[in-house]
Amino acid sequence: MAGDIAAPAIKPLFSAEQIAARVDELARDLAALPLDDLVIVGVLKGSVRFAEDLVRALRGQELRPELDFLQLASYGDDTRSSGKVEIVHDVEIPLAGRDAVIADDILDSGRTLSFAKALLESRGARTVRTCVLLDKQVKRAIEITPDFVGFLCPPVYVVGYGMDLAGRYRDLPFIGEVATQLSE
Ligand code: IMP
Ligand code: MG
Repeated sequence: MAGDIAAPAIKPLFSAEQIAARVDELARDLAALPLDDLVIVGVLKGSVRFAEDLVRALRGQELRPELDFLQLASYGDDTRSSGKVEIVHDVEIPLAGRDAVIADDILDSGRTLSFAKALLESRGARTVRTCVLLDKQVKRAIEITPDFVGFLCPPVYVVGYGMDLAGRYRDLPFIGEVATQLSE
């Protein structure tokens, strides 16, 4: 349509069904840990859906974790990392002595996850484990190996299932690669 900004094509990578099945498996793996007092900490905003679905799946494993969120900023509105991580919204619940699992949507440079892990450790959590839905196959700026991984992801920009491109596409039920522009 005249005046429309060309919409990027989104190439499906992981379907809603694949994601749901994998989240169930992750919940089963987490439930096998010696956990005492589990807290899931989702990293806003991209991990809202993942963290909520994970908590729901954990309920199926007879676990009733507390859910809280942490918002960190390192990207701004573009697809390049600025290299600096800042706390936009801190965790609100006490973590001392508890078993924390960070639920993050995607591990890319490693800066966000390593910052989040150090932060939760500094708050006195008994254990801090990391669970990422997507592990992007790129060279990390900071070396960090996640404890749990949903899917290995090609080194492309992805959206959907909570993940955005400049605030859009979070609503997509599947995860897709932002491919070439569709039209002139
Ligand atoms: P890192 O600090 O470079 O590892 O970046 C991790 C964060 O950047 C993720 O939690 C996402 O919020 C965001 N991010 C990295 N790659 C993508 C992507 O392909 N799509 C959407 N968000 C991304
Ligand atoms: Mg994120």
